[in-house]
Amino acid sequence: MVSYKELGLVNTRELFKKAIAGNYAIPAFNFNNMEQMQAIVQACVEKQSPVILQVSSGARKYANQTLLRYMAQGACEYAKELGHAIPIVLHLDHGDTFELCKSCVEYGFSSVMIDGSAHSYEDNVALTKKVVEFAHAHDVTVEGELGVLAGIEDEVSHETHSYTRPEEVEDFVSKTGVDSLAISIGTSHGAYKFKPEQCTRDENGKLVPPPLRFDILKEIEKRIPGFPIVLHGSSSVPQQYVDQINQYGGKLEAAVGIPEEQLREAAKSAVCKINIDSDGRLAMTAAIRKVFVEKPAEFDPRKYLGPARDELKKLYMHKVENVLGSAFKA
Ligand code: G3H
Ligand code: 13P
Ligand code: ZN
Repeated sequence: MVSYKELGLVNTRELFKKAIAGNYAIPAFNFNNMEQMQAIVQACVEKQSPVILQVSSGARKYANQTLLRYMAQGACEYAKELGHAIPIVLHLDHGDTFELCKSCVEYGFSSVMIDGSAHSYEDNVALTKKVVEFAHAHDVTVEGELGVLAGIEDEVSHETHSYTRPEEVEDFVSKTGVDSLAISIGTSHGAYKFKPEQCTRDENGKLVPPPLRFDILKEIEKRIPGFPIVLHGSSSVPQQYVDQINQYGGKLEAAVGIPEEQLREAAKSAVCKINIDSDGRLAMTAAIRKVFVEKPAEFDPRKYLGPARDELKKLYMHKVENVLGSAFKA
């Protein structure tokens, strides 16, 4: 058993309190490898933002749990070396079993998500409560989920949203003891959040997706005032990356994400954690493809992973400053 405290990490409790009071959200960026981690830390140190380093169960398998623990510890040391010891959380994204959450707590995670949203309400409550009891004994914070997002989540795909039912949140939060709650109000996972036929077009012909259900968010806030809310599936799918990928030999279809202005709006409410993974994947792929096409003789991985890391850093700095509003809050 290694405590996250020995690694220099923090849990989410204080961060969420400050984020709600300050009308911003903490970025939760997924990572699987060193370059992504470096880009996240560099961007957040430069913008002096707290950050949640987020690891899915697939990422944990990919990177290895022991390496992840040292990478998170390295992230804290790296931040100091770069000049600012920003608060860093190591968070399990979409944990689906008690055993996985327990193992993450034992391997140095400071926060875990137990996603029981695929279960019945009663089973979700029971599973989440069990994880909370174990995690809290180690001062690790827990995110639960009510409602189902459309899209792909760790190989499980849902065709349609099932929005969070505001009438359930109070009961869920009090029965489980969770520290934060992920809700479904129209965001979804992956790059293909909306089909073009679900969107309208603005005056420039740009596809505009249906707006997030701020009415449901407001109703939830009314029932659990000041309780930390989490938004998953919050990539915006920047068109320039989709175009760049296709320009350099990729084959992405028309992809539409969540408009950044809507996320900025959400961040001013009790939404205090916003999850972004797909935008980073797009930025990285766009940068790598460009090098491969423009310099086909190049075969030193640093020559394409380096530019990918630079592009990621630019993206994360933009998110922190203009979307989350968390710049200079560390
Ligand atoms: O919500 C899912 C995250 O984007 C993680 O994706 O399971 O492919 O690592 P992954
Ligand atoms: P995106 O696919 O929109 O980046 O969402 C990521 C996410 O919610 C991770 O849990
Ligand atoms: Zn998610």
